[in-house]
Amino acid sequence: MCGIVGILGREPVAMRLVEALRRLEYRGYDSAGIAVLEDGTLKRVRAPGKLGQLMACLAERELKSTIGIGHTRWATHGVPTENNAHPHFAGRVAIVHNGIIENFKTLRASLEAEGIRPETDTDTEIVAHLINRRLGQGLSPLDAVQKTLEELEGAFAFVIMFEGEDDLLIGARRGSPLAVGHGEGEMYLGSDAIALAPFTSRVTYLEDGDLVVLTRNSLTLYDEQGRQTVRPLQFTQASALLVDKGNYRHFMAKEIAEQPAVVGHTMAEYLDFNVNRVTLPELPLDLAGLDRITITACGTAYYAGMVAKYWIEQLARIPVDVDVASEFRYREAPLKKGGFALVISQSGETADTLAALRYCKSMGQHVAAVVNVPESTIARESDVILRTYAGPEIGVASTKAFTCQLTVLAAFAIAMARARGTIDGDEETRLVQTMNRLPRLLVQALSQDSHIEEVAKKIAHARDILYLGRGINYPTALEGALKLKEISYIHAEGYAAGELKHGPIALIDEGVPVVVIAPRDGLFDKTVSNMEEVAARGAHIVLITDEEGARDHGQNTFETIAVPMSDPFIAPILYAIPVQLLAYHAAVFLGTDVDQPRNLAKSVTVE
Ligand code: AGP
Repeated sequence: MCGIVGILGREPVAMRLVEALRRLEYRGYDSAGIAVLEDGTLKRVRAPGKLGQLMACLAERELKSTIGIGHTRWATHGVPTENNAHPHFAGRVAIVHNGIIENFKTLRASLEAEGIRPETDTDTEIVAHLINRRLGQGLSPLDAVQKTLEELEGAFAFVIMFEGEDDLLIGARRGSPLAVGHGEGEMYLGSDAIALAPFTSRVTYLEDGDLVVLTRNSLTLYDEQGRQTVRPLQFTQASALLVDKGNYRHFMAKEIAEQPAVVGHTMAEYLDFNVNRVTLPELPLDLAGLDRITITACGTAYYAGMVAKYWIEQLARIPVDVDVASEFRYREAPLKKGGFALVISQSGETADTLAALRYCKSMGQHVAAVVNVPESTIARESDVILRTYAGPEIGVASTKAFTCQLTVLAAFAIAMARARGTIDGDEETRLVQTMNRLPRLLVQALSQDSHIEEVAKKIAHARDILYLGRGINYPTALEGALKLKEISYIHAEGYAAGELKHGPIALIDEGVPVVVIAPRDGLFDKTVSNMEEVAARGAHIVLITDEEGARDHGQNTFETIAVPMSDPFIAPILYAIPVQLLAYHAAVFLGTDVDQPRNLAKSVTVE
């Protein structure tokens, strides 16, 4: 996902724009650029690759302007080259964009029919031409932008600058996030509060359809209908310090290590350990009256939803429908008015999950959002926020957000079961006390780091790696495979262990690593049988189990990773640690870009 920034400052902005872009690097990108208004003329510096390349180009320029815009580009239309990098110019207009304009080909054809020749392959340049064309018809910058937005289909967040206007920036959003930062005689625009953190903690989040006109000392906001409106001024916690790697080599390593603390912090918001009770925020409905729950999310968050299905169905005895949001948003699921849906999202900006939320609301459902960013669009559009307290997650591969999502979902499942009377107070006490052990158990699991690093090096050269799990540990197999493939680029697939015989076992050949996630629970023996089936065909078994499982079946494996004994209820949270570390160390060993893997974005705000 792209990152956009704008500064209306009182001192030179070039390096401040780069500083803001550096805080957006976690979103993933493959080119970057800035533009300034220097002596009334638009000037820009752009470069493919990372910000280091842009800095090298900037070192050769003396840009003193106090107004500018900047962009980190995750290519959607057009390969990552300097020419396709933002900011894009057209006549008097400079623009940066996050999103996709779906009808840009039609708009491009209309411009070409008028003899306008775009210079790039991007949808963004087309928007600049459309605005510039209206300026040429005598419209004001505000009117030119408003009229142009009416022509666009698709998602966007724009920051726009105009030649000859050195005290004006215009921002607009539809489907992609955009925030205004309030300074002292300065104003800022950014994709999120983290980008603005170096300048201010006073932030106004735009709503979908909003357009904002900024001068250094004023903010004028228009809603989707073009009416002047106001949005609340908020104080954000996304301080500049929070996005520092500390003494870790990668953000991902730091965030894996933070899990005992942030899981504990999240638990403290939902579990009262004095009375061993779950305490959820006020919900807009009576949980006892529900007869079904819908859960939808993407990627790792979806796997958290799959775990929640096991917890809720086993504890609260209510059916749960879980689906990836990109499918759910289009399959017209028949949902009951007054029903309940849970959406799960770390960023709170994932386009598919947002669309799924809107579908649920259109069907009259009450929607709760398990999110890590309380000011995010998904948070703002849900009826209830079930917040995770993971802190900013910078590494593209989700780790601490996942275990915090599971923590919230486990608490929700217990509360659901109590509301429906399917568990009594003693069982609630037992489950809450079980969860209370998590921070200590997570610390113990993290202590296996150096052993897991050795295992990772042994499997890092594999072409294919399978992950197997049963029951509530099946989603962990899927998550482990996703972690590995998205940061090490090794092909990895997660399977339900019992499913192997129905085809995937054909993939097993001499030396194929198979990671088996198997705590010593009620399904352990069946999973061991599956493990022996693949070992008999030459697979290299990496068994992830507890001390008892390692004692009984850890001898005849390629490698065994033992995590502390735990109640099966919390296994999905505990076993996330070894699969995260396995992926991390394989990626480090292979030398990939662990925090910003190729082709990936931290939050996918486009379809
Ligand atoms: C997880 O490691 C991936 N980066 C990705 O699957 C992610 O979980 C997914 O895009 C959902 O993001 P969200 O939680 O911000 O909605």
